[in-house]
Formats: sequence, structure tokens, C-alpha cells
Amino acid sequence: MISLQVNGLTVEVDVAEDTPLLWVLRENLKLTGSKFGCGIAACGACTVHVGGNAVRSCSYPVSAVGQQPVTTIEAVAADPVGKAVQVAWIKHDVPQCGYCQSGQVMTAVDFLKKKRHPSEADVVAAMGGNLCRCGAYQRIKAAVLDASK
Ligand code: FES
Repeated sequence: MISLQVNGLTVEVDVAEDTPLLWVLRENLKLTGSKFGCGIAACGACTVHVGGNAVRSCSYPVSAVGQQPVTTIEAVAADPVGKAVQVAWIKHDVPQCGYCQSGQVMTAVDFLKKKRHPSEADVVAAMGGNLCRCGAYQRIKAAVLDASK
């Protein structure tokens, strides 16, 4: 059994130590907001927070989590910065197909918690690793900048 702190709750899962965190979240805990895109840490769709840092959960073994808190998109609005990003996302009507959006939001929240008032160039650099096949990059940038005000 592996014990985890996920979205403020203690949970135990019976999985192999090398199981990717994304699998545990989606299959064991039924937290399906985090998405599987590439599976090789290249697209960002699976981004969650571990110990307050954005990680690509498709490539993050559950055994590496330890006692660090895990936060997923399902609980992001409980955080003031997360709530600000969520509100900006809705205001700017960011999603198109929506598949990459939870990863985009989790990356944006991590970024804004570390750099509360970024420049436009900072936002572009920070969000550049999260891919959006619909090309919603302008709205993503606008929402992140709005949430930083
Ligand atoms: Fe994890 Fe693409 S699914 S980075």
C-alpha cells in the first residue's frame, strides 16, 4: 500500500511503486480531470502539483510523491491563485476542445504562485511547454496575464 495526500485527503492505493501518478489519480482515485496526452512528459496535459510544484504526472512514479501534498485540477479553486486563474479562464473563454486545459491551468497556477506579476514574455515562456492542438495560445496568455493582476 502507498499512502498519499491528495487534495487534502489521505488515501491509500495498492499499486506498484513505479506506477505513474497519473494512473493512480485517474484509475484508482477517479480524479479524471488530469489528462493523458503523450505519456512521455512532452505535452503537459497531465500536469498536477506535487509539493507545490507542477509535475508531469504521466512520468512521475507514485513512489516519488512520499508525503508531499498532491493537488489536482479538481481542487485548484480552493487556492486563491487557483481561483483567480479559474475565473480568468472562464472570462476569456479559453478552452476549445478542452483536453489540455487542466494541465494548462495547473501550470499557470504554479507559475503565478512563484511570479505573481509576470511580463507577457514571462507568461509565454512559462506556458510554452504546454501544448494545445486547438491553438488557444492567445487566450491562454490573456487569461494568465489577467489572473496576474
Ligand atoms: Fe504527460 Fe503529455 S501526458 S506530458
